Amino acid sequence: MSTAHLDLNGNKYELPVTTGSENEVGVDIGALRKESAAITLDPGYGNTGSCKSAITFINGEKGILRYRGYPIETLCEKASFEEVSHLLIFGDRMNADQLKQWRRDLALHSFLHEDMLTMLHGYPVTAHPMSVLASMVASLSGFYSDSDEEPIETNVTRLMAKAASIATYEYKRRVGQPISYPRADHSYSDNFLRMMFATPAEDYDVPAPLAKALNMLFIVHADHEQNCSTSTVRMVGSSRAPLFASIAAGICGLWGPLHGGANQRVIEMLTQIHEDPDANVDDYVAKAKDPDSDFRLMGFGHRVYKNFDPRATILRKSCKEVLSYMGIDDPLLEIAERLEEVALKDEYFVERKLYPNVDFYSGIIYRALGIPTEMFTVMFALGRMPGWIAHWKEMREENSPIHRPRQIYIGETERDW
Ligand code: SDX
Repeated sequence: MSTAHLDLNGNKYELPVTTGSENEVGVDIGALRKESAAITLDPGYGNTGSCKSAITFINGEKGILRYRGYPIETLCEKASFEEVSHLLIFGDRMNADQLKQWRRDLALHSFLHEDMLTMLHGYPVTAHPMSVLASMVASLSGFYSDSDEEPIETNVTRLMAKAASIATYEYKRRVGQPISYPRADHSYSDNFLRMMFATPAEDYDVPAPLAKALNMLFIVHADHEQNCSTSTVRMVGSSRAPLFASIAAGICGLWGPLHGGANQRVIEMLTQIHEDPDANVDDYVAKAKDPDSDFRLMGFGHRVYKNFDPRATILRKSCKEVLSYMGIDDPLLEIAERLEEVALKDEYFVERKLYPNVDFYSGIIYRALGIPTEMFTVMFALGRMPGWIAHWKEMREENSPIHRPRQIYIGETERDW
């Protein structure tokens, strides 16, 4: 094993260096404080690895994203969201019989306890759907045991099934329609659209291109290694908090506009540009560059991708396919493409390596599918559910110590009262 050398306060230290299966190099500082009394400092953890993981690999410079070694492009083309979820969580592929059985289990576990429906009707219809999803998922622990004694397979199915039910039941409540239920022999994506748009008076035969687009949307969101919300799930789970509570914490972390909340902000930004009679795309790009303006190009930039986000490439293509299939000419897509074109030629964005991320195009597809803007981050959460669960499971299986970072104190030194 190679080592890193540190000269500190006149002392020399040797730190072990670890190398991953994709040749990523990490300086192991596990003994640093004990040996030197010093810690490292890395606000935002941009240079800090919190764990070793075998779930997802990202190469930000090359725009590579793989789940358990499979490229995201291949999975979007060939796999169902259910197969990708099982691959992320359990590490292996399902055969056709297992897929058929899991789809049946997901449908049978989709029902919410009637008392949870009473809770759902207690929320104001103006509540943001993410607040409803986070609190209802945390409440699952009150109705279904997610103790360590429960086989994780049951709670994986409960969580994935009931999260989709909470999302669609909440939508039906807002539009004043009765709940629609899934079918045991249909896919997750097909059932989601059915639960959103079918009514007792008329079933909703989901057009295959739309179910395919939603399947792909769920897959591109399914995992992304140690992002803010997944790190939150690991942090909370490291205290040995139960699964549903850990996932509810991840939902809250995702909500922020710098993270999963960006997809809603992108559509709001594109709409603002579209409806602004006095300004055009170039004016908004200029505003995004202005250090005195808090306007940012939402859906642009990424902590890891410094070339392009492969998911944005996939979603841009899907945007055009869905809009063309539905015969929709969405002016927001034109504005989005214009923004991308202007920004990618602009020194400010090029210098800072800011490219469209997963949130830049996703909202245009959700809009075309008929999903309300306030539900976009809920859609992100449903897609990310298997990734969160996979990391929680990996963290618990490796018996991770409780996450407890240190700090450098800069406050008052001791003083009299
Ligand atoms: C997701 O981590 C993940 O993997 C997340 C995610 C996942 O799948 O889990 O990929 C999902 O969260 C995607 C990101 C969605 N967020 C947005 O689209 C919000 C807009 N983007 C930014 O706020 C920002 O780019 C972040 C939060 C995504 C990344 O922030 P960083 O890495 O902390 O970078 P930074 O804020 O330090 O920016 C570096 C520079 C700054 O300029 P200077 O101070 O050097 O002059 O780039 C500028 C920033 O001002 N900048 C932007 C910008 N993003 C960064 N300027 C204008 N518009 C932007 N969008």
